[in-house]
Amino acid sequence: MTIQDYLADQAKIIEQALQDSLPSDWDFPQQLRDSMMYSITAGGKRLRPILVLAAAKATSGYDEAERAALPVACAIELVHTYSLVHDDLPAMDDDDVRRGKPTNHKVYGEAMAILAGDALLTHAFHCVTTAAEHEMVTAEAALAITRDLAYLSGAAGMVGGQAADVLGEQGITSLSDLEYIHLHKTSDLIAFTLLAGGRVGGATPSQLDALSEFGRKLGLAFQIQDDILDLIGDEQKLGKKTNSDVAQNKVTYPYLLGLDKSKELVEQLTAEAKSSLARADLREPARLEQIADYLMRRDH
Ligand code: IPE
Ligand code: IPE
Ligand code: MG
Ligand code: MG
Ligand code: MG
Repeated sequence: MTIQDYLADQAKIIEQALQDSLPSDWDFPQQLRDSMMYSITAGGKRLRPILVLAAAKATSGYDEAERAALPVACAIELVHTYSLVHDDLPAMDDDDVRRGKPTNHKVYGEAMAILAGDALLTHAFHCVTTAAEHEMVTAEAALAITRDLAYLSGAAGMVGGQAADVLGEQGITSLSDLEYIHLHKTSDLIAFTLLAGGRVGGATPSQLDALSEFGRKLGLAFQIQDDILDLIGDEQKLGKKTNSDVAQNKVTYPYLLGLDKSKELVEQLTAEAKSSLARADLREPARLEQIADYLMRRDH
């Protein structure tokens, strides 16, 4: 199976699980449900949940581990989707298009978009706890996954990176400041996916270390590529407007290093990521390696 077919098949499995993840008998305002479902079902690459499933399979060698990891895969997509809904708000990046559709606040208003984001984030933790209902996910693993998710998506993780990104619009110039922003706003959620998949698949502490390092490097390469595509990408393919970073005075890798150096860095970081993956010595690492190569060449 080609990597493209694999990614499309995995995305379908995840989209079905996401649809089913919000119980239809929970009683809350329809507007809130609609706003949450609008962003959950809008599409997107589903990269983060795919990485959770791929890491579980790569570590254990069993398809069963993928099934066991599905609620955790949903959880990280819920956190990622909330981060996008909030990232697009007028007070943040002020963007009108996301995943090829009007942004959440354009359809439901700012108040409902903020609340939908809050509810998506909270619901992620509900999903993680349901993973422990599968006999392959021990209570101990679910607890560690919960702690990782809280840490890597919170103040010391993604939210901290977003805060530094907002502060950076006011004049960050050093490469190390920018690296901090990217490592937290983007790498932390990606590192989570590999740690969580590894935990479901029964990874040893040294395998978890190597998987986390793989995610850090892959995430940094991914965000630099996102910055590059903001300048030279195709809006139709990306499903979002280009030149958003320019409009918001963002300091990005292309801004600091130029396009060519930034592209070189994406390749270099991908190679480093793959060395970390090799160090993990997993049972079936091939898919994870292919995903890393695919992301390096992505145009959306
Ligand atoms: C966009 O993430 C935000 C970044 C961290 C760069 P993706 O490029 O994964 O967006 P979707 O999920 O495919 O829409
Ligand atoms: C967003 O980075 C990272 C998040 C945590 C949402 P960007 O602001 O560059 O993401 P896009 O380009 O809007 O998708
Ligand atoms: Mg942003
Ligand atoms: Mg943005
Ligand atoms: Mg961007």
